[in-house]
Amino acid sequence: MDQIHLSVNDQPVTTSKGDTILAAASQAGITIPFLCWQPGQKTHGNCGLCVVQIEGTDRLSPACSTLASEGMVIRTETEDILEMRRNVIEIMFGDDVHDCGSCHRNGNCTLQNFLNRYHLSKPNLEEIFTALGL
Ligand code: SF4
Ligand code: FES
Repeated sequence: MDQIHLSVNDQPVTTSKGDTILAAASQAGITIPFLCWQPGQKTHGNCGLCVVQIEGTDRLSPACSTLASEGMVIRTETEDILEMRRNVIEIMFGDDVHDCGSCHRNGNCTLQNFLNRYHLSKPNLEEIFTALGL
């Protein structure tokens, strides 16, 4: 299998051709938060939580749906990225309508999976920001 080499937060990373940036970073022990993508599912790249900065591009790119390529230089935690992630979380969880216990999506919900991943019992902006280091 072809191997490619890139840099993530100044750390050299080797990954397989066809891997996403999210997968490449994960192999190197670098955590990028994700929400709309779920392991084993098709990537839609909709929510924007997993965005990263690719050197030489003007816009932030979703790590879950962007393939890693040879020589890429990636940053995962600039101020712009953290602000974008805060905005995503505020849009998703910034209202008071999330009461999982009385919700018909309880047990089958991407947002709830996200909360479970970060060991959060209910949507609470401050707790989510803290869990994500935002
Ligand atoms: S199950 Fe999902 S949609 Fe329903 S309240 Fe919980 S997080 Fe919100
Ligand atoms: S996890 Fe939603 S865009 Fe990547």
